[in-house]
Amino acid sequence: MGALVELRNVSYKYPGSSGWALIGITLELGKGLSIVTGPTGSGKSTLLRVISGAVPKIYGGILKGYVRVEGKPVLVPQEFDSFIIMPTVREDLEYAAEAGGASPWEAVRVARRAAEALGIEDLLERSVASLSTGERQRVAIAAALAMGATMILLDEPLAHQDEVGASLVRESIEKLGFEAVIVAEHRISLVAGLASKIVVMDGGRIVVEGAPRDVLGYASKLMDPLGAIGDRLENCRARCLED
Ligand SMILES: Nc1ncnc2c1ncn2[C@@H]1O[C@H](COP(=O)(O)OP(=O)(O)OP(=O)(O)O)[C@@H](O)[C@H]1O
Ligand SMILES: [Mg+2]
Repeated sequence: MGALVELRNVSYKYPGSSGWALIGITLELGKGLSIVTGPTGSGKSTLLRVISGAVPKIYGGILKGYVRVEGKPVLVPQEFDSFIIMPTVREDLEYAAEAGGASPWEAVRVARRAAEALGIEDLLERSVASLSTGERQRVAIAAALAMGATMILLDEPLAHQDEVGASLVRESIEKLGFEAVIVAEHRISLVAGLASKIVVMDGGRIVVEGAPRDVLGYASKLMDPLGAIGDRLENCRARCLED
C-alpha cells in the first residue's frame, strides 16, 4: 500500500530564525491514524504545517528536501477558534464548503452533511461564540470535512479536554471518512491504541518511529529526561554496532 505522505530529507527554517525547526526528516505515513509526539519545541506542529502545505506557503522560510502528499490535507490548529471564521455554525460550514469548491447551492447540503457527521446539526443556527469549547472543536472538524479534506491534521486535539479530544480523534478515524488522520500530541495514552504509527520527535529530528507497541516505551522515557538519555545512548550504541 502506497504512502499518502512521503518526506525525504526535509529540513525547515522559519523566517528570521537562526536554527532549523526540522532537520533531515525522512518519513512515510499511510492510511489510518498516525501520531506525532515529543517534547515542547520538538517540531510536531511544524511537521503538520509542512504536510498541510502551510509551510512554506503561509509561513515562508526555507524548506529543503522532497515532500509528496496525496489527497487534500487540512490542518486544524491547536487554537482551533482561529479556524472558525464566520459568526454562526451554518455560515461557517457553508463558507468552508465553498472554500472547498462547492457552489453556494451545494454548500448548503455539504454543510448540513458535515454537521450531521459531527452530531452538531442542532447547533447550526447558533452563534459560535455561544458554544462550549468541545462544541467549537466539533465545528472546526466539521469545517475541515465540509472543505473536502481527505486527510485531517489535528494539532493537540486533547489539549483542552482529554476525553472530548480523544473521542473526536476516534470519530475522525472510524466514522468521518478521512483517509488519514495525523495527530500531534504530548500525552498520547488515550489515543495510542488507535494508531497505526507513532513518530517521536526531539530537537527537530525523528528519534524513533514505528508501530505503537515498538515505540511506546521509548516515548514515555523521552518525557523523562534521564530515561531519554539512557535510551538515546542505547539507540546510539545500536547504531554504532550496526556501522
Ligand atoms: N511561527 C514560528 N516562527 C519561528 N519559529 C517557530 C515558529 N513556530 C515554531 N517555531 C520554532 O520551531 C521549533 C519547533 O516548534 P514547534 O512549534 O513545531 O514544536 P512543537 O513540538 O509543536 O512544540 P509544542 O509541543 O510546544 O507545541 C521551536 O524551536 C519553535 O520555537
Ligand atoms: Mg505544537
